[in-house]
Amino acid sequence: MASGTTCIILAAGKGSRMHSATHKVLHHVAGRSLLDHVLATTEAIGADQVVVVVGAQRSQVEHAIRGRSNVTIAHQAEQLGTGHAVLAARDALKFSSGETIIMYGDVPFVSGNTITRLRADAASCSGVAILGFDAEDPGQYGRIIATGVGTVERIVEYRDATSQERAIKFCNSGIIAASTPILFELLSQVTNDNAAGEFYLTDIVGLARSSGIEARATIASENEVLGVNSRLDLAAAEAAFQQRIRGNFMADGVTLQAPKSVHFCYDTVIAADVIIEPNVVFGPGVVIQAGARIRAFSHLEGCVVGAGAVIGPYARLRPGANIGVDAKIGNFVEIKNASLGPGAKANHLSYVGDATVGQGANIGAGTITCNYDGYFKHQTHIGEGAFIGSNSALVAPVDVGDNAIVAAGSTITQSVDAGSLALTRAE
Ligand code: UD1
Ligand code: MG
Repeated sequence: MASGTTCIILAAGKGSRMHSATHKVLHHVAGRSLLDHVLATTEAIGADQVVVVVGAQRSQVEHAIRGRSNVTIAHQAEQLGTGHAVLAARDALKFSSGETIIMYGDVPFVSGNTITRLRADAASCSGVAILGFDAEDPGQYGRIIATGVGTVERIVEYRDATSQERAIKFCNSGIIAASTPILFELLSQVTNDNAAGEFYLTDIVGLARSSGIEARATIASENEVLGVNSRLDLAAAEAAFQQRIRGNFMADGVTLQAPKSVHFCYDTVIAADVIIEPNVVFGPGVVIQAGARIRAFSHLEGCVVGAGAVIGPYARLRPGANIGVDAKIGNFVEIKNASLGPGAKANHLSYVGDATVGQGANIGAGTITCNYDGYFKHQTHIGEGAFIGSNSALVAPVDVGDNAIVAAGSTITQSVDAGSLALTRAE
């Protein structure tokens, strides 16, 4: 009997409150989808297999997981409840023994550490562990009926709860870990005899206790288990993520002059002693090295900024921008798929794309690398110490040699030798 760790991610709900043609779990927070946040957690805990249970819009989710060898889709044609959804994953399971962790596709921030604690609790009692939290406003969450410290008797859903039970603030996040054979044995006993007429996953807790199987509660913070059901929730999740990541960066020695105005991505990497001025936006794939300064109103994605470099104000670094140590990128400069050597400067109003710029080169105001001929992209190489005069057009493919000078206003269509002066002017 194959043994392994399986994660089942429930995502068959309609997500109707999103009012979206896009599947709910494919909406983004901090630059990646809710589903990718959850999948990252499954990776962090080393899950052997992940099954995503979907209903409508199955093909969108299939497309999103393409290329991930250990992630599969199970189809729950009719949404008859969370217990029914887990059963829909059964045929896709590679492991009949081992452990299963049930997660929700719209609960993006549960950390690997928390899941590790949950697994340990399930393993230590050879039973079921549920992730609970103290809700400020328990609303319609399922209530956890606990007896001793960490020992759970049952979960009662809001609709089925008495007013006394509704007064309980200890709530079910929905995330559960259990031994795989025990989970499916308990699920086979779940009925839909309740207020919603649904097969509740949460009934396995009471069923476990009546078979003498233990159930424990592992505690998480409410922030960690927040779910996304609407655009308002999506914005709240984004805000929670941003607040957390800003705090982490500042704790690690990054200066944020106006923290609330800076927007990070899930994978932003910033070294200590970087200064970030107000109103800076980070897309995916940004690395900023020590002592760099990102000035106000800059937008960065898919780029590396070397130590001591200064970017902005009002600069745009697009994917493939690689800015050398102590280089300077000034206002209204766009850099795409281009590397600038140490100390190189492009201080004003330029586009540098598909290019390499050598150490100490100076790109004058208004310089454009004309990289696109309408069909293909071409490269521009600018040598070390070269000086490109203002308002020059470098028509790629073209090379400007080391220490060469291009006079202001030139349109360069042929390569310029090292150390020479190139000057083209219309009559
Ligand atoms: C569930 C829990 C409740 C818990 C709450 C936390 C049950 C019975 N109740 O309630 O104790 O406090 O989550 O948010 O489990 N889904 C499917 N197929 C279905 C039904 C649901 O895949 O047939 C998915 C949904 O897409 C969603 C998740 O399961 O990701 C939870 O479903 P939802 O209907 O939101 O459950 P709640 O009523 O909120
Ligand atoms: Mg819900």
